[in-house]
Amino acid sequence: MVVRIDRDGCVAIVTIDNPPVNAVSHQVRLGLWEAVDATEGDPDVSAVVLICSGRTFVAGADIREFGQPPKEPHLPDLLLRIEAATKPWVAAIHGTALGGGLELAMACHTRIADAGAKLGLPEVTLGLIPGAGGTVRLPRLVAIDLALVMISTGTPIGADRAQEIGLVDSVSTGDLLSNAMLIALSVGAPQPTLARELRAETAPGAFSAGVEKILARARGQLAPAVAVQALQNAIDFPAEEALARERALFLKMRDSEEAKALRHIFFAERSTVRLDRLNGIAPLPLAQVGVVGGGTMGAGIAAACLLSGLSVTMVERDSNAAQAGHNRVRAILDDSLKRGKLTPAAHSKDMAAFAASDSYEALASADLVIEAAFEDLGVKQAVFAQLDKVVRPEAILASNTSYLDVGAIARDTAHPGRILGLHFFAPAHIMKLLEIVAPQGLDDSALASGVALAKMLGKIPVLSGVCDGFIANRIMSAYRREAEYMLEDGALPWQIDKAMEDYGFPMGLFRMQDLAGLDISWAMRKRQAAIRDPNQRYVRIGDLLCEAGHFGRKTGRGYYVYDDQGRAHPSPETAALIEAESAQRGIARRNFSDASITDRILEAMQLEGRRILDEGIAQRSDDIDVTMVNAFGFPRWKGGPMYLLASN
Ligand code: 3HC
Repeated sequence: MVVRIDRDGCVAIVTIDNPPVNAVSHQVRLGLWEAVDATEGDPDVSAVVLICSGRTFVAGADIREFGQPPKEPHLPDLLLRIEAATKPWVAAIHGTALGGGLELAMACHTRIADAGAKLGLPEVTLGLIPGAGGTVRLPRLVAIDLALVMISTGTPIGADRAQEIGLVDSVSTGDLLSNAMLIALSVGAPQPTLARELRAETAPGAFSAGVEKILARARGQLAPAVAVQALQNAIDFPAEEALARERALFLKMRDSEEAKALRHIFFAERSTVRLDRLNGIAPLPLAQVGVVGGGTMGAGIAAACLLSGLSVTMVERDSNAAQAGHNRVRAILDDSLKRGKLTPAAHSKDMAAFAASDSYEALASADLVIEAAFEDLGVKQAVFAQLDKVVRPEAILASNTSYLDVGAIARDTAHPGRILGLHFFAPAHIMKLLEIVAPQGLDDSALASGVALAKMLGKIPVLSGVCDGFIANRIMSAYRREAEYMLEDGALPWQIDKAMEDYGFPMGLFRMQDLAGLDISWAMRKRQAAIRDPNQRYVRIGDLLCEAGHFGRKTGRGYYVYDDQGRAHPSPETAALIEAESAQRGIARRNFSDASITDRILEAMQLEGRRILDEGIAQRSDDIDVTMVNAFGFPRWKGGPMYLLASN
C-alpha cells in the first residue's frame, strides 16, 4: 500500500509510503484519490494530515512514467479534488517537497515544514514546467517575482525562507506529525489556494526585471522561457484558464527533445558507479584526509573535504608553503561564510578541523591522502615514496593528476593496490565531477572508498581507466584540436567561441584558455614535444602567441585583446597572426558557418568518446555524457555528445 490512512481521534493521517523518494506515481495518485473519497465520506473525520514515510516528503511526479501514456487520475485533477475537499488538509513536509510534491502541498489548505525541509519547483532542470498547478498556485502564496525565480531557476529554498515569503504557514521544530496534528485540530474551514488573489511583486518592476534576467541566462534552453510564459498566463487569465494553459505547455515540454535529454542526464548521473565489481564491497571508514600540496588544487580539495565535515591535514614542503596553503584554505572558507553558504559556527568548526604542516609525519593517522603536487611523474613518485614511509598500511592513497599514468605512480610503492587517481576539477570545492581513475590491480575496497569519498563530498563520481587525460581532458583535447584546425582552415577564435556559446557552452574554448593563461599549456606542450607523434597535425598558433608574450587575460592579450575593465575583444593582431600561419602552411582559408563549427567539434568529441569506450577507459557512454556536462559545461539540455550520437 503506497498510501494508507490511519486515524487519531477526528484527524485522518494520510501517509504516502513510496520509497525511495515518495514520487507521485500512478499508484500514489490512485491511493490519494481514494483517500479523498474515504475522508470526505467519513463523518467522524474533521481534518486530514498528509505526511510521508521515509527520508522525504514527495520529491515530484514519477519521472520514470514520463515516457508512458498518462493514466488517470491525472495529478492536476487529483490536486483540484484535494483543494475542493470540505475538510482541511494539512501538508506536513520533511526532507524535500519538490515539483509535483510541492504542488501537492500547495493544493493542501495549510502547510507546516520541518526546519530542515527544502521546497522547490525544479521542473526546468528536467526541461519541464510545473504541470499540476504550480505556476498558478505559487504566485497566490508568494510574491509573483519570487514565484518567477523559483519556477524558472528550479532552485529550492529552506523552510525558514519558505515561511518568510508565505509558502508555508509554519516551521516545525519538534515532532512534525504532532505539530501537524495540533494544526489540524485548530484550523478553520478550508480555503482553496486557487481562490486567493495573486500576490503583488516585492517591488515595482521586479517581475519584468526578473523575466529579462532569466531569458538572458537561458542560453538556448527552452524551459525557462516557457516557465515565464506560464507565469504570465497566471497574471493574464483567471485561474482555471491559466491551469489549462499550464497543462498544455507542460505536456508539450514533456515530449520535447530538451526534456528527453535532461531525463537522460538525470538518470545517467545516478548510475555512474553502479558497478558489479563493487557489489558487497565496503568502503574503508573515511574521517581524516591528508592533502599533499597547498596550491590552488590542494587548497580547493582540502576545502571541499572540510565543508563536508572531514578533518584535513595539509602537508607542504616547508613552513612558508604550509602557511600559504593554510591561507588559501581559509580564504575559501571565508568566502563561503561571506556568501552565506557557511554559518559562523560551521566556519569555526571547519577551521578547527584543519591543520597545515611541513612534515609528512603529520599524515600518520590519515585514512586517505590525496596528492595535489606539481604535475610531473618524478615529483609525484617522490611524494608517494615519502607517503609509503609514514601512512598506515590500510590508508588509501590518491593522486589528483589530470593526465599522468596512475599505474606508473603506484608501481614502485609498497602497496600499489591502494593507489588510485582522484581527479578534481577547479574550483575543487564547487565543481561536481570527480573522475576516479582505476589503474590495473587497484583493490576493490580502495575503489569503493574513492566512490564513498565522492558521495561524501556531494560529487558525481565517474570511473575512468588510465590513459592520457582520462575521459574529461581527453575529450576536451579533441575539442581543442578540432577548434585549432579550424583556426588554420579559416575560422577565427571569436567566431568559434560564439558558435559554441550559442550552442550552449558557458564559455568558448579560446576565451577559457585566455582566462586560464596560455603559458601553462604552452609549458606542457614543450615538455611533451619529444614524445608527440610527428605525423599528427600540430597547430602552432597558441605557441606563437606565447612566444610574442601574449599569455591571455593576465597580459592583456592572448587569443583576444582585453580592455581596462578586463573585457575581451577580437584582436586584429591575433587575426593577422592566424592568417599568416595559414598562408605559411599553404592552407587556403575558407568560411565556416556556425553550424559547421559546432558539428565538427561535436563529431570530434564523439569520435574520441567512441575510442574511449572501445579502449575500455569509460564503462558506458552515459559516463562520458555525465563527464562532459559536469566538467566542461556541455549544455545539459542537449544530453551530452554520446547521447546526441545515439539519438541521431
Ligand atoms: N521520480 C522517479 N524517481 C526519482 C525521482 C522522481 N521524481 N526523484 C528521485 N528518484 C529516484 C532516483 O532516480 C534514485 O533512484 P536509484 O536509487 O534507482 O538511482 C532515487 O530516487 C534516489 O534519488 P537520488 O539518488 O537523487 O537521492 P538524493 O537523496 O541524492 O536526492 C532528491 C533526492 C533531492 C529528491 C533528488 O532525487 C531529486 O532532485 N529528484 C528529482 C526531483 C524533481 O526534479 N522533481 C520534479 C519532477 S517533475 C514533476 O514533478 C512534474 C510535476 O510538475 C507534474
